[in-house]
Amino acid sequence: MRSSKDFFRPLAVGAPEPVREIPARPSRAIHFFDPSNAKMAAKIPAMVGTVDVLLGNLEDAVKADNKVAAREGLVTIAQETANLGGQSGPTQLWTRINALDSPWVLDDLTTLVPAIGEKLDVIMVPKVQGAEDIHYIDRILAQLEAKAGITKPILVHAILETARGVANIEEICGASPRMQGLSLGPADLAADRRMKTTRVGGGHPGYLVRQDPASSAEDDILAARTTYQQDLWHYTIARMVDACAMHGIYPYYGPFGDIADVVACEDQFRNAFLLGCVGTWSLHPKQIAIANRVFSPSVADIKHARRVVAAMGDGTGAVMLDGKMEDDASLKQCLVMVELAEKLAAIDPELKAAYDAISLED
Ligand code: GLV
Ligand code: MG
Repeated sequence: MRSSKDFFRPLAVGAPEPVREIPARPSRAIHFFDPSNAKMAAKIPAMVGTVDVLLGNLEDAVKADNKVAAREGLVTIAQETANLGGQSGPTQLWTRINALDSPWVLDDLTTLVPAIGEKLDVIMVPKVQGAEDIHYIDRILAQLEAKAGITKPILVHAILETARGVANIEEICGASPRMQGLSLGPADLAADRRMKTTRVGGGHPGYLVRQDPASSAEDDILAARTTYQQDLWHYTIARMVDACAMHGIYPYYGPFGDIADVVACEDQFRNAFLLGCVGTWSLHPKQIAIANRVFSPSVADIKHARRVVAAMGDGTGAVMLDGKMEDDASLKQCLVMVELAEKLAAIDPELKAAYDAISLED
């Protein structure tokens, strides 16, 4: 057992001090790109400032023959793109490394940390099974940071995409002060759980509840009845939100593979936002706009939240507003929204203008 007193000591001599708080940096859309794809890579510089996070993907969706090119491409992009990554840029730089049981992951880490460690904000680790996976990454990152003289710890984000990972979710979130957050990996998770779906994220028309029949007569049983599709991911997202909140880190939706279905994509993202997630992945530029819209509180919500804050005075007691009771607890919810709006307004001028234009009078 490691003493809690040692938890914030660097894991290698000369490595930076672990952080005590994970910064709440806007990360509504984590836009994935394949650094081995020259066409995609060429678009990256122009995307800086238009998306909260750019993520160079080295894992699934990159062909085995392109693994080295993707790794090297990411180094070049990070070195040559201005204002990308690091503490102050408008767009964070993340990467998704290969899985810990792959032959590529060690080279991913030993190449990326010395070459671009100061610019890499977060390393996403796929198929995390338990705290032992995070401990492995934690130590090796400390060793590499120490060797390279990196001045701030690189944060770690785990993808939840195995049944064991879900079962071990709390220990994963608490395994290291580097833990920044969790994403849902619905495609791998479905396969690992032996779910009977064949898609990347989203619902399924077969997963539903049906209205009761009017009677138990056969005609009524066979008659048309209203059905409602249910959310396959509700349980997992809810577990992620609780585990992350408990450990002061951030939950994210993951990939939504049906790029054409922008409506269902928006619904899934919004469910995740309402449950407590702070962002999602984007697999296509059109999903960036959806994520930015969904993961930013609406003007109507901010107007209501500000009215509650104003009406609640010192924050205690209860008031009636538009026929509804507001009290200390509803005020706390409103403050979550107001604080998020302030953080987003600081980096998004359009959103700032919309929030600034809110009048509490009309
Ligand atoms: C993402 O990596 C997934 O498996 O859904
Ligand atoms: Mg996966």
